[in-house]
Formats: sequence, structure tokens, C-alpha cells
Amino acid sequence: MGLFTKIQKVFNRDSAPGKAASALEVDMHSHLLPAIDDGSKSLDDSLAMIERMSSFGVRKIITTPHIMYEFYRNTPEIIHQKLDFVREALKERGMNVALEAAAEYYMDDAFIDMVKNKEPLLTFGEKLILIETNYIQSHPQLLQVFFDLKIQGFKPVFAHPERYAYLTKSRDKDTLAAYQRIFDSGVLFQLNLLSFTGYYGPQIKHTAELLLKEGMIHLVGSDAHKMEHVRIVNAMKQTRMFERIMAADLMNNQL
Ligand SMILES: [Fe+2]
Repeated sequence: MGLFTKIQKVFNRDSAPGKAASALEVDMHSHLLPAIDDGSKSLDDSLAMIERMSSFGVRKIITTPHIMYEFYRNTPEIIHQKLDFVREALKERGMNVALEAAAEYYMDDAFIDMVKNKEPLLTFGEKLILIETNYIQSHPQLLQVFFDLKIQGFKPVFAHPERYAYLTKSRDKDTLAAYQRIFDSGVLFQLNLLSFTGYYGPQIKHTAELLLKEGMIHLVGSDAHKMEHVRIVNAMKQTRMFERIMAADLMNNQL
């Protein structure tokens, strides 16, 4: 086989349309319960997004409303009430998708108090708990809180680490060192699929690819707040990049 034919074969393989990537059956980060955070605004909104996700092979959605003292004072009761409401509507419409709810906890003083006081926390899988921080500034107690949660038997999941400007340095080497410190403490990394599309900008895309390349990824999520996010995520599921992500040893489909 000549060199040109070889190159052509590789090119054809890489760009073959409709090549089935392994399916992402479980999405574990989204904002699909109506009107309790900055995600879905109505029941219709929620059902439309859930249906669109399910049409792309998602069989279980673990949705994660924000719990953030300053803006969204959600409680397990509020979240479960909304979950029941949406589940009922799914049932009425004969929509066959499993919907569960946990939360995305924002690292603030209220959350730290909840951990200290051992208040009931919303988790998914085997005591996994999704946590985000401010995008610009870390929290001085970040690693301590992760540690305290682990002592209590939780498995902290760091939501979209690629999005935090405070971890991104001008040289990749330094960026990786900053992430390594957190990764080595045994925290699970959840990257957003949107990050790989450039949706949040080139820097975040670069960091997401860097973390993927280094195997610093345990879970992925859509972090869908609106239909636009669902559409972009569904489209990226047709790409080679998605195949590369799915080749990582992700925990999603075991949830
Ligand atoms: Fe989120």
C-alpha cells in the first residue's frame, strides 16, 4: 500500500460519519429541575431538555441543582419535591428515562458549616458529592473540606475543574502541577463536555484537553442549563473528541 493510500485510509477512518462512539448512558451534572436555580425555567423546559438528552442515548439523568447560600438556598426537601413533580410528568407522558437528583454544592461558609455539623447532604452513586468553587478565586479551606468529607465517607467530585481560572497558569507544566495537588488528594474530577467544544472559550478547552491527555478525568457531565447546551452536547457526541473522552476510564455508566 502506497503512502498516499495509507494516509487516505487513516483520514477516512477518522472522519467516517456516523461512526458509533460508545454511548454516554448516564449524565450526572445538569440543572433540569424547574425554577429552583439558573437552569430550567419551567416544566415544559425540563421535559424538552430531558427528552432531547434521552434521544441521544442517555438512559439516566442525575440532575444537580445549585445549592449556593448567596443565590440558591435549595434544600434536600425543595429538590426532592421538584424531582417528584418532574418524575410524575415524565410518567404521564410515558417518557422512559430515569431521573434522579443530587446537588451541586458551592464551596461557601454555609456549605462548610453543613459539613462540620454533619447535616444530610445530597449525593449520587456511592456517596459521591458534587462540589464547585468560585471561578476566579479558590477557597482557602478547599482541600480541608474535601478531606473532612472523605473522613465522613463521602467521595468528593470536583465539578468542572477546567473552568477555574485560579488553577490555570501560563505554562502547561505549572497548570498540571496545580491540578495534580488536588487530584492526588483523591478527589474525583468531573469535566464538562461543553468545555471540549470551546463553548467557554479557548483557554478552558485547552485545559480540558490537557486534563484528558493526562488521564485526570473520572466523570463527564453536560452541565446543561438550557436547550442550547443540550444541543451542543448532542452534536459533540458525533465527534472524534467525544470518542477520545469515552476511551478514558469514566465512571458515568456505572452510576
Ligand atoms: Fe453546574
